[in-house]
Amino acid sequence: MNAKTKEEELREVQMLGLKLPTDPRWVNLAEKDLEEILTDHAYCEQKAATACISLIQAYPEKEEMVRELAPIVTEEWGHFRMVLKELEKRNLHLGRQRKDEYVNKLLAFQKKGGSREERLLEKLLTCALIEARSCERFRLLSLHINEEELRDWYHKFMVAEAGHYVLFIELARKYLPEEMVKQRWEAYLEREAEIMQELELRGDRMH
Ligand SMILES: [Fe+2]
Ligand SMILES: [Fe+2]
Repeated sequence: MNAKTKEEELREVQMLGLKLPTDPRWVNLAEKDLEEILTDHAYCEQKAATACISLIQAYPEKEEMVRELAPIVTEEWGHFRMVLKELEKRNLHLGRQRKDEYVNKLLAFQKKGGSREERLLEKLLTCALIEARSCERFRLLSLHINEEELRDWYHKFMVAEAGHYVLFIELARKYLPEEMVKQRWEAYLEREAEIMQELELRGDRMH
């Protein structure tokens, strides 16, 4: 099979179901202070790795999920290291982790209680959504940031996170009834669009 061209990759990941595109001014804000945006990005990667580890710990009996997520932990941690390396290369420093309002608002939307399986669905869809929005933002950076080297660098993250988004949705479909996944995903997408409007547009945040 032929490898996809960059243009094909860009077209495929345009919105991933998201209901609200990011304000285009965000890239200009983000590139004003690379140390800030790279720091936030680094912690997003760390949290992605941590989320996969937590899923494995909570659902060891879901063998296929464990098998699929184990390498994603390595991949996300690899992303963290890529960001660290980029900071070092530029003589910048990893700052402190900040409160993640976007993720907190998504977590607040998760249905509490319910069966173990239903809680799994909430976790998988939350992960899928964070991947989708990250992917959409990496796409914007990969297209519009001034520095060419960084555009290529962000393109790689865009492709990887799109793959993770697909995996989380597939896992949800594997373990939960299709109709339930569909309805809940739609509710998440709607809530996510509201969250995007509630949050201030900031250049020092990936979301
Ligand atoms: Fe990642
Ligand atoms: Fe990811």
